[in-house]
Formats: sequence, structure tokens, C-alpha cells
Amino acid sequence: MSASASRSVDIPAGNGLFELSQDQFNEITAFVQRECGIHLTSAKFGLVVSRLQKRILILKLNSFAEYIKYLKSKSGKHEIEEMISRITTNVTSFNREAHHFDHFGKNVLPGLIDSARSGNTVRLWSAGCSDGREPYTLACVIFDAFPDVKKYDFRILATDIDKHSLAKARSGEYPRDQVAGLPSGLAERWFDNAGSNLKIKNEVRSIIHFNSLNLMSSWPMKKKFDVIFCRNVMIYFATEVQARLLDKFSQNLKSGCHLYIGHSERIEGAANAVFRQVGVTTYIHEPGGSEI
Ligand SMILES: C[S@@+](CC[C@H](N)C(=O)[O-])C[C@H]1O[C@@H](n2cnc3c(N)ncnc32)[C@H](O)[C@@H]1O
Repeated sequence: MSASASRSVDIPAGNGLFELSQDQFNEITAFVQRECGIHLTSAKFGLVVSRLQKRILILKLNSFAEYIKYLKSKSGKHEIEEMISRITTNVTSFNREAHHFDHFGKNVLPGLIDSARSGNTVRLWSAGCSDGREPYTLACVIFDAFPDVKKYDFRILATDIDKHSLAKARSGEYPRDQVAGLPSGLAERWFDNAGSNLKIKNEVRSIIHFNSLNLMSSWPMKKKFDVIFCRNVMIYFATEVQARLLDKFSQNLKSGCHLYIGHSERIEGAANAVFRQVGVTTYIHEPGGSEI
């Protein structure tokens, strides 16, 4: 059995290729929550069946019982990554929630440019970057305002748990209709023609470092960030997991710096004491004390 076999398997119409019992569903959802924080309610029963039965076919297994056994086995270790990749929702677009990029460009970027020109390190983080359209939008906005950014220590870290999305992100190549979502002129200035696609220019790509990172695991970053974008990721986590994540963001974001979250996400509970809302789903980090 090959865990890295092709992702495309034709599934006959209908969901019922393999039967999933309630107990098996509970076991899978508990496993997913432990591994990556994603909280699957019973409304996601059909989603779990349809997304994972493709893996059962690829692996040439016969049932969900066999699949669960494989997941827990030593030889099934790589399958955990594949399963998570199937379960995650990777919807994204260029310039998604455009008001964030406007806010960033007008209110945040000028200060970061001054800081970089004064010799400081500037670090932005796109946490849960999917296939890269979020960090590339950010990079295009930065290059437009700061074309010599490469001369300075100014970088974007872009991370995701899904290795298939990251592979796409690293390629930097997208169909033209996707790139068309960028504000006028950006695509023309910062992308090259690549047959029927457009490809991000190498110099823009070069300020982004893509890396695999499970937000539920320990984070290797040593320095604090100047901006964090974590949009449409927390929505998939249970409330207590969101609270823990916001606490970690607080520990990893400089004082006075910005956190952008997704349109249906909110900052609630203890995190309200350190994140003050300054715009639509836009927050400034005010932890008190004098840590930078
Ligand atoms: C809906 S996409 C959002 C993409 C982008 N931030 C945006 O708003 O367009 C959510 C992303 O979060 C990632 N994700 C989910 N759980 C994660 C975890 N525990 N660690 C890291 N990334 C995770 C998924 O793989 C997916 O690519």
C-alpha cells in the first residue's frame, strides 16, 4: 500500500461506498481534534465519509475499521498527514477580505518600512496560509510600496499544516482568473506569464519563507512578529483551543502590533485583555508592561 499514491480517485456517485458507524466517527473526530485542533461536529459526518473514503480506496483497504487500524499503526504514520490534508478546508483567494490589505498598506506598512530602513528586523506571519494566495497578496502590497524591500531584513513567514497546499504555494503559479482578484496593476507588476497561468516573480517570492507548521504543536520561532495574519483558521477550532491559540499569538506578537483574523472569527474571553479591536476583525496587541 502506498500512502503517497495519487490523490485523484474516481468515486461513484453517492456517499455510501463504506459504512461509517457513530463510534468510528467519534474515534476519527477525537483523533483529528487531538492532532490539529479541528473540531468536527456531527453535521460533518457526510464530509468525513466522502473525504476519507477516497483514502480507503487509494490505500486499497476495505472499511473504515481497517482505515482506523492503519492510522494507529506504525506503518500508517504518514497517513495522519494525508488524512488531515483531506479534512482541512483550504478555501482562499487573492486579496480576500480586501479591507485587511487596505488597513495594512495604509496604517501598518509605513511604520514597518521606517523600522526596516532603520536597521530593524521585520517579520510578518501568515498562519494557515493555504496555497499561498494570502502571503502573496501581502508581498505584492509590500513590493508596491517598498520596491527595494529585499535590501532589508524584512520577511514573511507563511505556514500551514497541509503539505499539498504548501506545495502549491511554493510553486507560486496560479490560473489567471484567480490572480485577477488582486487590485488593479498588482498582477501586471508582480507576476510573470507562465503559459496559461501567471507566476509570482522570483524577487517577490524571495521574501516569503513557506514552512509546514501545525498550530497545535510547539512553535520553533524565537523572535516576535510585527504582524500576524491568521484568518479563517480559528473558526474550525473549539472555543478553548481558540483561546489557547490567541494566548500563543499574544506571546509571539510585539506590543503595539497587529493581528488580523477572519470575517466570522471573534476575539473573546481572556484575549480581550490584550487585543484591542481597531477595525473590522483587526486588532492591536496591548499586553501592558513594556515588552517589545
Ligand atoms: C480556510 S483556509 C484559510 C486560508 C487563508 N488564511 C485565508 O483566509 O484565505 C484554512 C487553513 O488553515 C489550515 N489549518 C487548519 N488547521 C491547522 C493547524 N492546526 N495548523 C496549521 N494550519 C492549519 C488549513 O490547512 C487551511 O489551509
